[in-house]
Amino acid sequence: MDYQRAYEKLEKFGQLHVLKYYDELTKEEQEMLLKQVEDTDFTMTDSCKHKEELNQKGKISPLSAMQLKEIAERREEFTAIGMEAIKAGKVGAVLLAGGMGTRLGSDAPKGLYDIGLTKEVFIFQRLIENLLDVVHAADAWIHLFVMTSDKNHEATTQFFAEKNYFGYRPEYITFFMQEMAPATDYNGKVYMEEKYKISTSPNGNGGWFTSMVKWGVVDKIHEAGIEWLNVFAVDNVLQRIADPCFVGATIQTNSDVGAKVVCKNAPDERIGVVCLEDGKPSIVEYYELTEELMNAKDENGEPAYSFGVILNYLFREKALEEIVAKKLPLHIVEKKIPCLDENGEAVKPEEPNGYKYEQLVLDMIHELGSCLPYEVERNYEFAPIKNKTGIDSVESARALCKENGIEL
Ligand code: UTP
Repeated sequence: MDYQRAYEKLEKFGQLHVLKYYDELTKEEQEMLLKQVEDTDFTMTDSCKHKEELNQKGKISPLSAMQLKEIAERREEFTAIGMEAIKAGKVGAVLLAGGMGTRLGSDAPKGLYDIGLTKEVFIFQRLIENLLDVVHAADAWIHLFVMTSDKNHEATTQFFAEKNYFGYRPEYITFFMQEMAPATDYNGKVYMEEKYKISTSPNGNGGWFTSMVKWGVVDKIHEAGIEWLNVFAVDNVLQRIADPCFVGATIQTNSDVGAKVVCKNAPDERIGVVCLEDGKPSIVEYYELTEELMNAKDENGEPAYSFGVILNYLFREKALEEIVAKKLPLHIVEKKIPCLDENGEAVKPEEPNGYKYEQLVLDMIHELGSCLPYEVERNYEFAPIKNKTGIDSVESARALCKENGIEL
């Protein structure tokens, strides 16, 4: 893109300040900036001005979950079905590791965080160990796809190589990168990270399948004959991945997606809950849950919205292909965004200073025809690491690992 075209594009979106330092840049830097302007989608930056109107929910009603008791009774049946699919190579795993992990406060990718006490136990290592349990039980390798972002791709791939993939077969691991989105101030003006670079951040975990398509990873999925994709977050160090019983239950109930859920520990726990929205499966984020829904009861007098998602989903791959062209809702999140101040000096803010624009994997559920919420026991399978201390922290995850006999 030449200067004139870039100027016109920026003018259209009210972002001309991006060219403020253009004349002082080297030729190379100028080209980098023009290329970034060409590649950047600025359409979302305006939406922060009418934030409240975004993502209006439809009519919410309860969606029942398959609960622990039923799962225990049918464990053998489901496990056999799941194992058969895994052995036949029909199940792949997708690790969402493109996030910035800002709450944890480490500059390195979250998966490189060492939660060990007497030895090294990296978050990535815990996840690979969990997946290896199934690989060994099934005596079959499972394709693992790892989503990174522009900000952490190098560091992530290097780390896996240095650690010999924690015993996983490298030919079964495929890295791909997610897209980036511009980060803005509270008025929707994009921040500059350098004089020749617009501030960007990963565009949320909702773009994972679109990015797989863009990177040609989907061709690999077709070649391998994978029919189900188990998508999971980087930060839950206890979760079971490609869990045969969960796989079997999702297949057996002919669901487009299975969602692992836990019973909430309080009505106001900060976790998205499964429900129906206008008769279709959906997830309501904790901040969207009204007081009335929080305390609503079902026909048995039990809390109607008591099952929360833990970001571990099993998607039918064909169903994803059908919805890939659909635009997911945009979430505008307040964050600390490193940027240049008005004097062109780099600053790393201590407090949130603007917005990031994200799409979320949980919004994919509403696009699909059927969802099986599948309950897991939270103390065995839910140890998310979001913060350094307190709730959902390194501390709480260590305690849960100990409770499950995992040496740290
Ligand atoms: P979080 O919502 O916890 O976001 O991600 P985060 O960016 O990792 O952490 P904070 O909010 O800055 O502290 C949930 C999962 O989604 C992935 C994360 O890596 C994590 O596995 N994710 C998130 C992505 O892969 N890409 C994104 O753009 C955002």
